[in-house]
Amino acid sequence: MLALGCDHGGYQLMKDVMKYLDENNIPYENLGTYSEEAVDYPVYGKKVAHAVAAGTHDQGIIICGTGIGISLAANKVKGIRAALCGDVFSAKATREHNNANILAMGARVVGVGLALEIVKAFLETPFSNGQRHINRVNQIED
Ligand code: RB5
Repeated sequence: MLALGCDHGGYQLMKDVMKYLDENNIPYENLGTYSEEAVDYPVYGKKVAHAVAAGTHDQGIIICGTGIGISLAANKVKGIRAALCGDVFSAKATREHNNANILAMGARVVGVGLALEIVKAFLETPFSNGQRHINRVNQIED
């Protein structure tokens, strides 16, 4: 189950992401925000991060205007590897190499077409499980 979170800057793009997930029968829980009323992105970044860190959700998708603030907030939570992606190559690579557990995007940075390709790449790419990557990911937590 995916956990979703965004601020007002990411709200419209998150609606497109949810439509994509619905069409592809990918289960998710939307942890807010639920309108374009201004909110604080750390609240939603951390909500998703805590859900993933606690194991109630496998992965997360978070969106703010740039993707920067909400990913910074999510990455403060132990066990979280939130990757800000603005291209498909990075989305695939961060799953293969970093075992990223949250995808962050900037709604003011990427268009909807690219964003959905990024989501698809992130969700469909497994961690490589290569020993060197496991070692490096473990060092992130040190
Ligand atoms: C909100 O205006 C904006 O600051 C936020 O969405 C995000 O871009 C922060 O990093």
